[in-house]
This record gives sequence, C-alpha cells and structure tokens, in this order.
Amino acid sequence: MDLHFLDAVPEDAEREAVDAVLGPPDSGWDGGTRHASDLRFAEGGHVARGRRDLLLPALHAVNDRVGWISRAALDYICRRLTIPPAEAYGVATFYAMFALERRPRRVVHVCTDIACAAKDSASLCAQMRERAGGPGGDDGEFTWHESPCLGLCERAPAAVSLQAGDPPRYSVAAPARAGEIIPEPGEVPAGDTPAAPAADGHGAPGDSHGPPLGGGRPQRRTTFSPDTLPGPAPEPPPHAAVPQAGDPDLVLLRRIGVVDPTSLDDYRANGGYAALREAMRLGPSGVIREVADSGLVGRGGAAFPTGRKWDATAKRPETPRYVICNADESEPGTFKDRVLMEGDPFAVVEALTIAGYANNAAVGYIYIRGEYPRALWLLENAVELARERNLLGTDILGSGFDFDIEIRRGAGAYICGEETAIFNSIEGLRGEPRSKPPFPVERGVFGKPTAINNVETLVNVLPIVLHGGPAYASVGTGRSTGPKLFCVSGAVERPGVYEVPFGADLRALMEMCGGAGTGPDGAQRLPRAVLLGGAAGGFVRGDELDIPLTLEGARDAGATLGSGVILVLDDDVDLTAILVRIAAFFRDESCGQCVPCRVGTVRQEEALVRLSRETGARDTDLALLREVGDAMRDASICGLGQTAWNAVESAIDRLGAFGPQEESTR
Ligand SMILES: Cc1cc2nc3c(=O)[nH]c(=O)nc-3n(C[C@H](O)[C@H](O)[C@H](O)COP(=O)(O)O)c2cc1C
Ligand code: SF4
Ligand code: FES
Repeated sequence: MDLHFLDAVPEDAEREAVDAVLGPPDSGWDGGTRHASDLRFAEGGHVARGRRDLLLPALHAVNDRVGWISRAALDYICRRLTIPPAEAYGVATFYAMFALERRPRRVVHVCTDIACAAKDSASLCAQMRERAGGPGGDDGEFTWHESPCLGLCERAPAAVSLQAGDPPRYSVAAPARAGEIIPEPGEVPAGDTPAAPAADGHGAPGDSHGPPLGGGRPQRRTTFSPDTLPGPAPEPPPHAAVPQAGDPDLVLLRRIGVVDPTSLDDYRANGGYAALREAMRLGPSGVIREVADSGLVGRGGAAFPTGRKWDATAKRPETPRYVICNADESEPGTFKDRVLMEGDPFAVVEALTIAGYANNAAVGYIYIRGEYPRALWLLENAVELARERNLLGTDILGSGFDFDIEIRRGAGAYICGEETAIFNSIEGLRGEPRSKPPFPVERGVFGKPTAINNVETLVNVLPIVLHGGPAYASVGTGRSTGPKLFCVSGAVERPGVYEVPFGADLRALMEMCGGAGTGPDGAQRLPRAVLLGGAAGGFVRGDELDIPLTLEGARDAGATLGSGVILVLDDDVDLTAILVRIAAFFRDESCGQCVPCRVGTVRQEEALVRLSRETGARDTDLALLREVGDAMRDASICGLGQTAWNAVESAIDRLGAFGPQEESTR
C-alpha cells in the first residue's frame, strides 16, 4: 500500500460510511467538493485533528459497510481527520478484524482457543477445510479464520459470522457445526445491500440521535441489524448461560432472565435506577466512601481496590475526567461480562453513570470487544433509551449532573483490554500499552484523570450504593468481599456463569455445575486439571479442589483467580495441545512493543511445539522455557508479557507436563 495521499476516489458506499460517523465534509480540504475559497485559505485543520479519536469508528464504519478498507477509503478518512496515511495504516493493521485487501463480505470467525479446543474445535476446523478450503480462502461468498476465544466458551466450540452491509449483520453458532456456518450459494449479497431498518427504527441508516460529545457526530441507533444471518439455530437468550437464573438470592445476576434486556421500563420495574437516585442522595464523596467501605476490588484481573481508584481520580485537579467501562473481555475462557451486558445491559449503563457521578466525569466510554455483536446491540439500545429518559445527557434527573456515554468497539486485539492500551485505542492510536507511571488516575485517556473498571466491578457498585458498603463487606471473607462471578467451561455437566460469595471453595463450585460427570462405576470423576484465571492464570490438579476461591486463598495455593475462569479438563484432553494453543495466543496477541514479550512469546511457542512433538532435547527446552519465562515476567512492560508463562509454568510444575511423571497425568 502506498502511504501517501493519493487521488484514489472512494466509492459512494465508503464515503457514506465515513460521513455517517464524521458528518459531511466542509470543504475540498477535507475531502469534499472544492470551492474557489479553498484555494485562498484552509479551514478546519485544528478541529479535524481534534477528532482523531474518531479514526477507529471510521475504520469500523467502512469495514462494516464494505467488508474491507480500500486505499481510497483509508485516504478519505485520513483527509477528513488530517491523519498521515502511514499512521492510519499502522492503526488499521493493528486490528485483526480489519482487512486492507479485498475479501468477501462475510467473515466467519471459528474459535480454536482453549475451551473450544477442549471441545474438539479441531474437528470443526477440519470440516471447514474440507467443505470450504483453508482459513483465509475466498470463494467469493465468504471467508473464514481461526480465532482466539470468542467469549462463548460455555457453548464451545463457537463461531461468529459477520457480514458487511448497510446495516451489517451477524450470527452466532455455538456449539457450531460446519454445515450451518457455511452460507448457501447466493446467500451473501454481492454488492451494497439496501438499508433494512427494523420496525422499531433500530439500525436505520442516518438515524441521527443526540451526539454524545456534542457537535456534529451523527450516529446510528444500533450498529448491527437485529435480523441475524440465516443458518445457525437462533442464539439462546442470555440467561441460558446462567444455570442459577431466577434464584432470588443472586446479587449480580439477579435480573438476568427476569427482565427484558431491551426494556428500560422493565429494568426500572425491577429496581433499576434506584441506585443512581441513592447515589445522588449520597453525593459523590458519599458514593466513594461506600465503595471504599465495601472493600470492592477490581474484577478485571488485577484486584485493585475500586474505592481507592475512584478517590484518587476524583481528587485530581485536572478536568475533564473520564470513566471507562472495560468490556473488552478477551481473556480466553472468560464470558461473564458478555452475560452481564446481554442479560442486564441497563445495569452496566446505570453503574457507569454512578461512576461518572462519583468521579465528576462528563463522559464515560464503554469499550466493548468487536466480537460481541449482540452485547453491542443491547448496550447501544440501552444508552439510547437512557438518553431519551434523561438518565444520560444534561441535568440528569434534575440533579444538575451532566454525563453521557459513548460506546467504542474494539476490533480484535486482546491487548486492548489492558487499561492504557484502551486509552490509545480510543484516541485513535495503535492499541499499545503505555508505560506506567503515570497511572490512569493521573493521566489516562486524552491525558486526563481516568477511572477505568471492568464490567463486573461496575455492576457490583449498584448493590453497594443501595445497601451500603458495610453490608456488602459482610459477604465473603475479610479480604475478598462480596459476590464473585466465575466462568465455568470445559468438562462439566452444566457450564455457564456462576455467582458465589467469595469464600466458597473450588469443590463447592464444581458441585454446583455438576462436576466432571460420573465414571463407568457411577462415582463422581475428578477432573484431570482445572485452569484458573484463563490463559494468564494457572493450572491446578484435579485433587486440589479444596482451594478457596478467594484472592488470598488462591494466592496461598500458588494460583490466581484472574478474571474468574474455571476451565475444567478431563483425561481425554491433550494437555500439550492446550499449552501450545496458549503459547500461540500470547505470541499472536503480543503488541510487539517490548523485546522480552515480542521475542519471548515466540521462543516459548517454539519450545512447546518441539516438546509436544518430541523433536528437541527435552531438558534443554524446559530450561529454555524457564529462562525465557522469567525474562518475560521480569522485564515486560505490561501484564501480557508478565503473565504469558504462568499457565505453562504451572502445567510443568503442578501437572508434571513434559516430565517423567507426565504419563500418569495424561
Ligand atoms: C493483556 C491484558 C488484558 C486485559 N484485558 C482486560 C479485559 O478484557 N477486561 C478487563 O476488565 N480488564 C482487563 N485487563 C485489566 C485492565 O488492565 C485493568 O486492570 C482493569 O480494566 C481495571 O478494572 P478493575 O479494577 O475493575 O478490574 C487486562 C490487562 C492486561 C494486562
Ligand atoms: S508486554 Fe507484550 S503486549 Fe505488553 S507492551 Fe510489551 S510487547 Fe506489548
Ligand atoms: S469461545 Fe472458544 S475458547 Fe472461549
């Protein structure tokens, strides 16, 4: 690709897609019609540069509409935002979901990550190869790719199909069969499809609603059409992923399966927005006090105290301040945030509004991963309805508080879940983590104080505000307070998201989900191993089920809860294949910015492949793995590199992988 401005002319569909995000161009300088005055002076450069954060939405718009981003479309975006094409190219190529070469309109993402690998995604891929050729092939109708975790692990193996058009459409198949994710001949429209607004107006192109940041940002009401693609069986409702749904004792999951996730009225009838009213009665410092008293710590993996984070942000003198809901959920094996967003989306909006109120922020972002079309659809709907009822916007509920939420979609980059990478991604830069300090509370998105929290963390704030911090802290153990969500997948009877008070042990959770089934003798089978915390977490043995599911209990046992992954592996699973998959994930997702991680993740995968194929010197490779792992842990900039060796190390040390005793653990 040529990285200079060219005279390539975008097609109408490309131009319309970009203009729908940026508004129409003002002059010849930003890609519009040339006027005589354009020759005398240039206008708007400063304003355009100030909209750099719209680069990612503009790239999405073209990719959604046409299926790929042509040189002409990229050029047009660059003119509109006065971004050097080389920079925009660097950003567009950072994300796996964007293509800069022509490709079919439908792209099928087939998950081959750990939970799906444990459910034989290899056979699904073999069938895909047989019927449709290898990954990346192009038969004119569709193409398919092997994908990292799609956040549908409870129904593994999973596939998500995305089809460009106006509006774009999607379908989810889980468990997926090749026959239902390969489109019928002629099913995928060849050209630009006509707009197909649904009866309720959702998805209507150009349907411009109050711009969240003020000034010239026309927005569609929902990105994806509510009409999913034909083929797979209809996706089950969100509560199908919650085996406890309807249990009145639930706290975080209590509305899932009880309320209609598209209805604000239903949400309010089930206690919705009572917490925001209570927050406004308490005042910002009162909210922060309750959150601090609750002992709530972040559920995104790092377990940082939320009250301290908010207190530090709110005390900063710089304005504006921002709050961000981290909905990037890409840790393999994790799907709790998807279930919260799909089953109770207004709760996420209300909780982020309370965070905005407590931190005196004017704008909140929800940064949601690109592979969650249904959650995106529901959140867009929720934000829109909240705006209509003055639960977002100016003078919310007559309190004088102004706050709005903008939804930003990731585009297939695990690293963008790292908090500072999200800032770069929102700002229209490559989603590479920043060095810390400065920490987000001092200098976050747009260089301003920012409180960023995981979806589950935020949803915890609702009961804290409603019932008080001390009441919340009375649940759980001293240092791990409140309820916790766990994402159970793999070899269990009833996979799904489970809510348990902190303090239950792994055995209790296994009993709730029906355990690993019964053996031929009718006795409960012990799993071979359990992966706690996801790819960045670690394995424990099947005979270690007494580990308490608390932060301190897991740490004392040399494990981690991370983002709440409980992936159960039985004797049928090829452990070495799972380890190689984990290593491939980190190699693929490393942003490449720092050497220990960029090189270490490659060396780790190579050594594991040799070990699994028994093609190298075993002791040398095990020593190499340790050396490389220690270097990644000690010297990487961010958590990706620092944790990339955790699971492999635990498999070697705890499960005896590649060791003399390996045969007995197989
Ligand atoms: C590589 C990497 C990926 C991450 N992905 C996520 C994610 O998808 N969702 C999330 O909430 N936190 C993720 N985190 C943690 C965030 O950096 C951050 O700690 C979190 O959003 C803070 O929110 P919390 O305090 O509510 O947990 C990730 C961290 C790293 C290092
Ligand atoms: S540790 Fe890896 S992902 Fe993190 S900044 Fe370094 S290269 Fe990028
Ligand atoms: S959806 Fe496949 S591993 Fe999560």
